[in-house]
Formats: sequence, C-alpha cells, structure tokens
Amino acid sequence: MARPHDWRDAPLADFAVLGDPVSHSRSPKMHEAAYQALAMKRSYVPIEVKLDDLSPALSHLARLGYRGVNLTVPLKEAGAKWAEKPDEFVRRVGSANTLDLLESSATNTDAPGFLDTLPGLGIWPPSKVLVLGAGGAARALTAGLAEAGFRVRVFNRTPERAEAMVRGLGAAAEVLGEPNPEGCSLILNTTSAALSGEAPDLQWNRADRKAIAYDLTYGSELTPFLLKAALQGHKVVDGLDMLVAQGARSFEWWLGVAAPLDAMRRAVE
Ligand code: ATR
Repeated sequence: MARPHDWRDAPLADFAVLGDPVSHSRSPKMHEAAYQALAMKRSYVPIEVKLDDLSPALSHLARLGYRGVNLTVPLKEAGAKWAEKPDEFVRRVGSANTLDLLESSATNTDAPGFLDTLPGLGIWPPSKVLVLGAGGAARALTAGLAEAGFRVRVFNRTPERAEAMVRGLGAAAEVLGEPNPEGCSLILNTTSAALSGEAPDLQWNRADRKAIAYDLTYGSELTPFLLKAALQGHKVVDGLDMLVAQGARSFEWWLGVAAPLDAMRRAVE
C-alpha cells in the first residue's frame, strides 16, 4: 500500500483521498486500476490531512492542479462546509465524501454507493432495515435509505443522538428504544464499536433468520459484529462492495465516463 503524503509535500497528481489516518485506504489502488483499465493518464494518491488543516490543504492541492478529492474520516463534515456548491443531499446530511476542486462543489457517493449494493444481495425492492449508530455514516445512510423507500429503524447506544439525527434529517425513520431487529431484512452496523474490539448491542434472538448483517468497514478480518452474526447463521457483508460502488460513482462524477467496475473490484480484493 502506498505511504500517505503529508499535504504540504503532496506530489503533482490529479486526484487524492484525504483523511487522518488514511494509510488503510484502498481507494488509491482502486482508482489507479480504473485509469489503467481505460488507458487514462491520471493519478490518485493518499494524503494525510488533519481536520484543522482541511481548508489550507484543499487550497494548496487546487493550486497544484488537483481536480478532485475523496474525503474519509474525520473530514466529511468539514468538506461539506468547505464547498461553495454542495449538492442538495450534501446540504441535507452535512457530509461530503467527494469534492471537485475546480468547481468548489461537493457530492456524497456513500449513500447511493451503498444502495447500489443492495439489489445484488436480494434486498430490493425496499423493505425494513435496522440502522445501528447515529454518527456521520448513519446520517448519510439513514437519509439515503429513507429516500429510497426503506422503512428505517434506528438504534443508538445514546438514544438522544439518534433522536436528534432523525429530527435533523427530517427523515421518515423510527428511533427504537431497544436494539430489536424484528422484521428487518437488513441490519446495518455504522458504529465505530469495532475500533474498541466490540460489537454494538443487538437482540439477535429476535432477528429474522434471513436477515443480512452488513458492516460498512472492510478489512482482512470480520468485525466483532459480523463475527457474531455469522455465528448466528446470518449472511454477512463487509464494506468492500460499497467501497467500489462509491468509488465508481466518484469516478463518474469527476470524469463523466463509465467506471470499469470489474477492474476496480479486483484491485481492492
Ligand atoms: P462516524 O461519523 O464515523 O459515523 P461517530 O460520529 O464518532 O462516527 O459515531 C460513532 C457511532 O458509533 C455512534 O453512534 C456511537 O454511539 P454513541 O452515539 O452512543 O457514542 C457508536 N459507537 C461507538 N462505539 C460503540 C460501542 N462500543 N457500542 C455501540 N455503539 C458504539
């Protein structure tokens, strides 16, 4: 995996993923594979940017000729504020993962990318889903799922945060008092519990046998949440397909060319 650059020493390139940390990101490999598959002379690099430095870093990269960037933790909210031209969804959820530095515009490909992965899992047409968590990722996906017609239930360890999130989004979602997945075809973990080696609370005994457990993170091992789900006999899905889908949508937003999905998928496996 390429070592991330400090933004002050960024090389000349066209696109980048910015984050802190960013060394785990598979986006550079994935986008480079796409350029190669289409014989495009473009480059995509990982750049470490601290939250407080986002604005000067973006100005610097724009001066160097960067066309666009993806943002990862903890920069998505600040990226939404930075953009002079955020699209409607970014304005509503306050989170952007894709910026155009020439236009100072922003979009969010996380939510539509996530939705792209559902038909392949048999979770279409929209049904009932339980979202665990109430952070930035939960926000974007709750809005996206509700907009797509899912009946969204949200549970968060701190219930007030879930209430505030749903109210703020104006989304048609119900906040649960307990982590009850009854009747849900999809149980979506957006929490960062895995960072402390934990799984979020869930009443597994009330889950439908066919419910799919989905975690937004990806890595070489199952998260504690997916491990529990697998032990209960549920189908488990990590964030790799969503990574590819959101990357493909960013690619198309910047370049206006259909993304070579197979090449991108192979690059991140
Ligand atoms: P992000 O923006 O990446 O989604 P965040 O805003 O830090 O991250 O939110 C993290 C989410 O994970 C929150 O919903 C948090 O629950 P609280 O609101 O109660 O803090 C949740 N979370 C983190 N650790 C958790 C744990 N061990 N068990 C359950 N939920 C956890």
